[in-house]
Amino acid sequence: MALKFMTAEEAAALINHNDNVGFSGFTAAGCPKVVPAALAKRAEEEHAKGNPFKVGMFTGASTGDSIDGNLARAHAVKFRTPYQSSKDMRNAINSGEVKYFDMHLSQLAQEIRYGFLGGVDVAIIEACDVTEEGEIIPTCGVGIMPTIAKMAKLVIVELNRWHPKELKGMHDIAEFIDPPFRIPIPIYHASDRVGVNSVKINPNKIVVVETNTPNEGSGFAPVDEITAKIGENVAYFLEKEMAEGRMPKEFLPVQSGVGNIANAVLAAMGDSKAIPNFEIYTEVIQDAVIELMERGRVRFASGCSLTVSNPVIEKIYKNLAFFKEKLILRPSEFSNNPGIVRRLGVIAINTALEADIYGNINSTHVTGTKMMNGIGGSGDFTRSSYVSIFVTPSVAKDGKISAFVPMVSHMDHSEHSVKVIISEYGIADLRGKCPKERAEAIIENCVHPDYRPLLREYLARCENGHTPVDLYDAFSFHEAFMETGDMKNAKWRKEKKA
Ligand code: COA
Repeated sequence: MALKFMTAEEAAALINHNDNVGFSGFTAAGCPKVVPAALAKRAEEEHAKGNPFKVGMFTGASTGDSIDGNLARAHAVKFRTPYQSSKDMRNAINSGEVKYFDMHLSQLAQEIRYGFLGGVDVAIIEACDVTEEGEIIPTCGVGIMPTIAKMAKLVIVELNRWHPKELKGMHDIAEFIDPPFRIPIPIYHASDRVGVNSVKINPNKIVVVETNTPNEGSGFAPVDEITAKIGENVAYFLEKEMAEGRMPKEFLPVQSGVGNIANAVLAAMGDSKAIPNFEIYTEVIQDAVIELMERGRVRFASGCSLTVSNPVIEKIYKNLAFFKEKLILRPSEFSNNPGIVRRLGVIAINTALEADIYGNINSTHVTGTKMMNGIGGSGDFTRSSYVSIFVTPSVAKDGKISAFVPMVSHMDHSEHSVKVIISEYGIADLRGKCPKERAEAIIENCVHPDYRPLLREYLARCENGHTPVDLYDAFSFHEAFMETGDMKNAKWRKEKKA
């Protein structure tokens, strides 16, 4: 059967107000671009006519500006899940315009299948190839693509010629069978494959929009003094684990979070003489992984997306034969699967917004109320890892915010899941420590010197108990920041008992 081709505008006209729309990709990698832009334009035109037009959004994770930015600026979003990182979408979420519910990325596809989130009316999918038999080959990010393609009533394939068809073979596409029939997934090494090369659906529900649009890969900030020091501290911690026999001599697969700090940590691990060549089992494969792969330091990487800058993706495409042997892109329910993470013994390294002195982590909410990005895959990996490490610079906003506070203003990862915290000042190894010992380890090793006396004073003022907390002053740092713009002005509310 011949495929139906149309323009982005014609495809966008098939999407209705109140539809739930699923988007392929994960970060900007693998995301459609021209149809979301046309959809945003359609929403603006409907609004100008006085008609309501909003859609529900399911994505793999954050997206490019073509999706989140365009749709937020067009006021075209009813609800959105999961992780996002767009300034305009963040503002729409924090103003209450967009109903956002944050989810662990590994859970989204199955919760859509379970029917927890309403149906999928339309899927918009970027592909490097599509056949008349309904076989779709994703590009450089997979996310929830297999599930939304199968469930949607209409599948708009954005056939982006910018990506080579020869990407076929890099993906490992599968879907879990849902309970009570689920079976173990035989991934025993990062390089094991359990699926096929493409998503196969009924071709009758496919329409194709052709394009040749570059990736929206934004690149990474150069490693600075602080991120370099954090990276060195992570490498030192892992070297010591090996030397003292707590890490197998073969080493273990590494998951490293999103952003500049994660990129710097991987670069430092690559430079370590004591860490052997290693594998990656992660969600986003960033620039540093590709550089380490070229140097032979990373043997293999399994992930959900190639979240790399445009020069790096172009390099991969020029040397596809080399990289196809060393890379697998999987759907997020596999790349982030907690069962596989626990089986492989993944070393999880994620970034915190703030941590408290007991080791609880806030990854998502600024001063407890404003959504930054979302929990992403940090929970999928942290809880199930061999060892979970959180990294953070000791301060933010020119030192006016301490990343270490008496009590986190929102909690994403509890003290039970957090094993090690590392800042540019040092390493707090929390394993086997009671809450008071954890507080001392964090204050003495990770906190910025400007905040150490304040946190020591706070700890000394706390009531005794298993976890010494002063409920009157637990948010004194946040209160000082809100009232004076600087956490260093924290004051105690309550007189200490004589
Ligand atoms: N309070 C307020 N703002 C803070 C803050 C705090 N405690 N700590 C950091 N910030 C600000 C920084 O100043 C920076 O602001 P800017 O963008 O205006 O410069 C911003 O938050 C980002 O911080 P940065 O230190 O540059 O780190 P990052 O880019 O690595 O992002 C997270 C850190 C936590 C926001 C990011 O890693 C994230 O979203 N994590 C959750 C999801 C996750 O872990 N995914 C990985 C799973 S594989």
